[in-house]
Amino acid sequence: MTIETGVLQRYSQGAESIQADLCCPIDYDRELLALLPQEIIDKDYGCGDPSRYVQKGDVVLDLGSGSGKICYMAAQLVGDTGKVIGVDMNDDMLALARKYQAEMAEKIGVANVEFVQGQIQDLALDLTALNHYLAENPITKAEDVLHLRAWQEKQRKESPLIADNSVDLVVSNCVLNLVHDSDKAQLIQEIFRVTKAGGRVAISDIVSDEAVPAHLKADAHLWSGCISGALQEHAFLQAFIDAGFVAVAYDKWESHAWQVVEGIEFRSVTITAVKPQDEPCLDKGHAVIYRGPFAKVYDDEGHVFYRGQRMAMCERSFNLLTGSAYNDQFIGIAPVQEQTPQHWCHAAGTLRPAADTKGAAHKADGAPSCC
Ligand SMILES: C[S@@+](CC[C@H](N)C(=O)[O-])C[C@H]1O[C@@H](n2cnc3c(N)ncnc32)[C@H](O)[C@@H]1O
Repeated sequence: MTIETGVLQRYSQGAESIQADLCCPIDYDRELLALLPQEIIDKDYGCGDPSRYVQKGDVVLDLGSGSGKICYMAAQLVGDTGKVIGVDMNDDMLALARKYQAEMAEKIGVANVEFVQGQIQDLALDLTALNHYLAENPITKAEDVLHLRAWQEKQRKESPLIADNSVDLVVSNCVLNLVHDSDKAQLIQEIFRVTKAGGRVAISDIVSDEAVPAHLKADAHLWSGCISGALQEHAFLQAFIDAGFVAVAYDKWESHAWQVVEGIEFRSVTITAVKPQDEPCLDKGHAVIYRGPFAKVYDDEGHVFYRGQRMAMCERSFNLLTGSAYNDQFIGIAPVQEQTPQHWCHAAGTLRPAADTKGAAHKADGAPSCC
């Protein structure tokens, strides 16, 4: 059995009957759970609660939506101005989630959830469309495979399942570890592609504290059980940084390991990150002060911040650093009078004199500091 077929079979069983060994105790918001059918709550194979990050009006994408629990919780939070899309590759899980769609729309008061079939490492390819194609164009000879590839490329480009820059918040609950190691980088690039500029990710998953040896990775049962496909704790964060996300952090970390196999601890974590705004880096005279407690810190874009010092920032970085992603770690100092915008040309670590942000009246020579 391959890793992929093992995952498919295990979650078809999970849709059919409760698999106790796939369940992790999680403290969900009881008010959001109250509307959910018991079957959806019982067939919960998550390991965290990314619904805590959902905001009103968000377009939310849930990767590996399973029974639909996180989607139906998120649907209550996004309200009638947002929407929720659950992606799963498994027919049985999709059927289970869709079984309650009409009932949930009535309870919530709006039909704002849809479930679509796709692989999360290839979010452009619509597997329902692929099924239709294969029904009409069965593969009987090698040449048919070439036609299929051409069709897939065209379909990804012209009618992607999830469009570029279309999602405010990507969530997932215990799924990324199930994707084959050779597809994991593409998976995170796909998450980056579909997230809007300024959009967020909140992903609960399992990480390992040590490298997982090959014989554990080859064990299809351990893999489909959300164990041996886990990334190592630093590699999980690094994968998001490599894809281009910023403000990448562990927001939740279970100190108690969920499973220990051959001395390796596997624990539940929740990572948060932001896709940078797609704007030029313009200097208008902003500054930020890092509050501490560390003497010096760096961000994912290579800026350095000295505790208590006014650091020169472009407007884009200023907005990011003083927004919710950094939990109030920076004090923002906007210029009293904006400078004429200039493309950013300062070295990392450039300080901004207080006189520059106070306006011309306070400057000794009246001239803005520029390159
Ligand atoms: C551990 S369960 C988690 C389900 C759900 N997120 C929850 O919290 O209960 C994993 C789910 O991800 C789906 N899945 C696994 N690998 C996938 C992939 N590569 N693409 C799409 N779905 C996948 C499975 O079919 C299953 O429904």
